[in-house]
Amino acid sequence: MGERLCAQGMARDSLNRLTQLDYEGMKKKLGLKAAMRPGPSGDPSAPDAANMEEAKVRHYALPDPLVANDGSVVKSKEVWQEIRRSQIANDLENEMFGALPEDLPTVDWQVVHEKDTVIANFPVTEKLLIGKVDNSSYPQTDVHIQLLVGVPSGAVDAVPVVMEFGFLKWPFGSPPAEPNSYFISPYEPRWKQQLLSKGWGYAVLVPSSIQPDHGAGLRTGIIGLANKGKSREPGQWGVLRAWAWGASSAMDYFESDAAVDAARIGIEGTSRYGKAALVTMAFDDRFSLGFLGSSGAGGASLLRRNFGEQVENLASSSEYHWFCGNFLKYASELSVDDLPVDAHSLLALCAPRPVFISVGSPFIEGQWVDAKGMFLAGVHASPVYGLLEKEGLETSEFPEMGKALTGGEVAFRQHAGGHSTGPNWSTWIAWASRYWK
Ligand code: GCU
Repeated sequence: MGERLCAQGMARDSLNRLTQLDYEGMKKKLGLKAAMRPGPSGDPSAPDAANMEEAKVRHYALPDPLVANDGSVVKSKEVWQEIRRSQIANDLENEMFGALPEDLPTVDWQVVHEKDTVIANFPVTEKLLIGKVDNSSYPQTDVHIQLLVGVPSGAVDAVPVVMEFGFLKWPFGSPPAEPNSYFISPYEPRWKQQLLSKGWGYAVLVPSSIQPDHGAGLRTGIIGLANKGKSREPGQWGVLRAWAWGASSAMDYFESDAAVDAARIGIEGTSRYGKAALVTMAFDDRFSLGFLGSSGAGGASLLRRNFGEQVENLASSSEYHWFCGNFLKYASELSVDDLPVDAHSLLALCAPRPVFISVGSPFIEGQWVDAKGMFLAGVHASPVYGLLEKEGLETSEFPEMGKALTGGEVAFRQHAGGHSTGPNWSTWIAWASRYWK
């Protein structure tokens, strides 16, 4: 036991060391003239605690998604679609998430296991798949993407599926340990059961099988494979974009599976996986609905609001890998006010497709994720939905906890539970039913 703990500790130390090396290397490539500013602490009792008081939120000005780079106001769907949308997408790629490499290898999806099972009385056929990424250009790195797909057994028509960025017990065996009860709503059945009761299916995509979740791993995974084991240049993609690419690749698979209706695929995730779900929605318009759980900074919450997690935290060595290297500039010689985009820009790219912003109770989840910042990003993305003749968020007034704002294509609900989408599933499904008849 002692030896194992010691080995784990050593492995962690070496990951941290490799992460630091990569981080320092990126700072050098950027030639930053100023030191990195440290982010505030997530511990409310720390002397440098992040702001969690509404009264202390500063004034800030957001870039207007409907003003083009030449200063002209975007007044038509066509100008949005042909000009402004790609300007925003470029800014998000160049400054935050990185662009997809040009020659991405192909993925060969194979079913490795199939079984009939039962979840809460609903018979379901589960398939376990591996998406094997062609590594002939760099055989030193293997990328085997793990995907579980469950559809109601015997369904006649192709079914809608919600795919979660999540975890799996691999391969099939005893079911994964139930997560800590803190993550489970005592008030709602689990998500798979709820989806099956609608006649819908579920899928779980494993992010770590696409790209490791640390700076030390940037020379492996799909990022390392596409880069032939070299460290990244400042504009190259970060982990969130890589996970989103994995989701797009799973979408390619869905398009080939007759049991699944590829026109009705939703993407869901919580926390860093909620950020990945939003990036997926923003950059791949084949996804029909989004369920963005507590995605916080780097996801749906406005970065310019000094509340909860800040750009300086995201650009630190423990989170910078989620982004492209250029993003580091905004915690050094530049500031968040220099960013040409913010969270509402990312939501605007999802328009006109419906997205649901989900968050937990401040008393249980805490306020690091900045619920109001996510709500306001929805408010400020809404004019783009309006231009596309959709409703966006139905109000600009922050709702009380539990109230579902599901009247428009940008939905919002703060549930009474913790850091999880759990207590919002039934609300999400009721909302999604409008679109997936
Ligand atoms: C940290 C991080 C968040 C992130 C979260 C998670 O709290 O600061 O941005 O969402 O981890 O993914 O668990």
